[in-house]
Amino acid sequence: MKNMIYFDNAATTYPKPESVYRAADEYARTRCGNPSRGSHALSLAAAEAVYKTREALAELYGASPENVVFTMNTTYALNLAIKAVAKSGDHILISNLEHNSVLRPVHQICARLGASYDIFDATLGKDEIIADINKKRRKSTRLLVCTHQSNITPIVLPIKSIAEYCRTNGIYSIVDCAQSSGTIEFDMSQTKIDAVCVPSHKGLYGLPGCGAIIFGQDSTEELKTTIEGGSGSESIPPEMPAYMPDRMEAGTLPSPAIVSLARGIEFIQRQGIESIRERERRLCEYIMAALKDIDGVTVYNLEPGSTLLFNCDGITPTDTASMLDSYGICVRAGLHCAPLAHRTLGTFPTGAVRASFGAFNTKREADKFIDAVERIIKSKK
Ligand code: ALA
Repeated sequence: MKNMIYFDNAATTYPKPESVYRAADEYARTRCGNPSRGSHALSLAAAEAVYKTREALAELYGASPENVVFTMNTTYALNLAIKAVAKSGDHILISNLEHNSVLRPVHQICARLGASYDIFDATLGKDEIIADINKKRRKSTRLLVCTHQSNITPIVLPIKSIAEYCRTNGIYSIVDCAQSSGTIEFDMSQTKIDAVCVPSHKGLYGLPGCGAIIFGQDSTEELKTTIEGGSGSESIPPEMPAYMPDRMEAGTLPSPAIVSLARGIEFIQRQGIESIRERERRLCEYIMAALKDIDGVTVYNLEPGSTLLFNCDGITPTDTASMLDSYGICVRAGLHCAPLAHRTLGTFPTGAVRASFGAFNTKREADKFIDAVERIIKSKK
């Protein structure tokens, strides 16, 4: 839309690079056979295109291509990974900044399996977080699931240290990288993380419809499946194949979105992951400084980053978002599917307004946003 200011990049990045639109269109028109479901030219072309994305994602995270499992989105990835590992009687740890995509599957699997979970404090310093995990760990703790970066505040968890602790203590670690993929780099081969879950459509600039689990090198033993069906390979046994990624990829893959993801990854590599992160941080810092001078605005960020969480005093978050929308500015208000994180920040149950930045946002847009917030505050006085 012309003149629209899109500050909802934490929900999904927009716009996408031109190469992403073109790749999905070209693929759907010319190569969209069913990958791994035939030996004819169109199926082979589709399989090759999917494999290229598998390689690109594996390279981005320092993993092996066969350890990349495509899913529909991050929520599916987290569900599959959590349920592949959790067993009856287990104790699970999650952080107090989790999205419902972690809280709900953990809560549900615990109820179903007779397992239990506790919540550690992720708002502390690194050593204190590890100490809190250690305090909450039990003999039966077998799994820890946590976000890399919260979706409402730019707090980044020390996942390398957490994973080291987990490996030393026989705990499997799963990291939700929904908000960090594309803006925080790390190499799985240099960490003890067992699995990370990523979306295509956020910081990796692909289209919605695909996500992935990326497993560490020695982390794919004994994974249980929750979705079974055609794998395109080994059709005779009634069980899914034992080998990866076929074991975890049942049914036809969302190949147009997968293909778009390869172009998205190329885009962030061309721009530079650090440089995208720094661009978002600077915009946020600029807006934070301006909002501090406006009487009647409460900013909840401790630091600038890719998301800015705020409220206008006396106006509900939803009303603020609607008013911003009338100025052509897209933000997300409410609880952002993260009631646990809002409880932690003290913004539950009303929630707050979140502006979230991406690679295409500009300082000019930031100025228009600041001006709109000023007008909203004045309109209520
Ligand atoms: N999890 C996404 C968000 O934070 C959808 O908006």
